[in-house]
Amino acid sequence: MFLLLSIPMLSNKIVLLTGASSGIGSTLLEYFLDKVQYLITSNRKELTEFLPLDSPPSNLEHVAMDLTIESNVKKLFQHIKEKFRRLDVLINCVGGSLFSHPIEEFPVEEFDTVIAVNLRSAFLLTKHAIRLMKLNGKAGGNIVHFVSSSAKNISPKKAPYGSAKAGLAHFIHYAAYEAGHYNIKVNGISPTYVFTPRHEREIRNQMQKTGASREEIVKKILSRQVLKRPMYSKDLIAVTELLATTDSITGQIYNCSMGEILSY
Ligand SMILES: NC(=O)c1ccc[n+]([C@@H]2O[C@H](COP(=O)([O-])OP(=O)(O)OC[C@H]3O[C@@H](n4cnc5c(N)ncnc54)[C@H](OP(=O)(O)O)[C@@H]3O)[C@@H](O)[C@H]2O)c1
Repeated sequence: MFLLLSIPMLSNKIVLLTGASSGIGSTLLEYFLDKVQYLITSNRKELTEFLPLDSPPSNLEHVAMDLTIESNVKKLFQHIKEKFRRLDVLINCVGGSLFSHPIEEFPVEEFDTVIAVNLRSAFLLTKHAIRLMKLNGKAGGNIVHFVSSSAKNISPKKAPYGSAKAGLAHFIHYAAYEAGHYNIKVNGISPTYVFTPRHEREIRNQMQKTGASREEIVKKILSRQVLKRPMYSKDLIAVTELLATTDSITGQIYNCSMGEILSY
């Protein structure tokens, strides 16, 4: 007896990738571009600022905007609806810890910004993605958000970031519960320390500030990992592809921690 398996493919998918201008998002942009039917990217920077090509690929369109503002997000999805009539996948990499202070010194304006960048944008993108993906009927859609291990562990002086990401993790459960009705799968990826160019800059700053060597700083970062090598953005490609195409997984947060056991 033959078992007929349907292997999910991206080649016929319209995909929105947010936060594509740096770090994890820019690695995903590079990987997914020639695998999908059409890729729409969105973040504040213009395409020429982060993808300096003479002629951008024909299946790529970039929409530069601040995704913490609902009127912008509405416009983005209206545009996708008019141009493609559908959206199959949203991969959301917008986020960042942005500021570091003890709680007693954290300016409330900075707190609000961190919540907006990490939680409000995810809420807005999910809200408008569900509205559009609903129109796909039985085919549904896939939404993938980047959470963080800071939602569970303590990242010193980053209470608003950890709180926003913890909020995002439970928001994913709610969104999966509601959107499951339309076969829209909503999941999260929760990495620990990813050696992105931004983190490499932070390591260099720390070396200058403390006099510690790169080896000492990296050793400390890796100390809680089971696999003793740095995690790079490319290590997140496989799990992103899985969650961008799954037809059976929803409401899950995948810890990408190189084996570190995350608490709670
Ligand atoms: N790197 C890590 O170790 C790590 C660990 C755990 C979780 N994460 C999470 O993974 C995601 C990606 O991290 P990353 O390290 O790759 O971050 P990153 O290099 O700082 O990139 C963040 C992206 O978000 C975009 N962005 C920020 N504010 C925005 C806004 N208001 N509107 C639209 N776009 C905005 C940025 O683009 P523009 O500046 O062009 O707007 C950029 O493309 C984030 O959610 C982060 O919290 C990262």
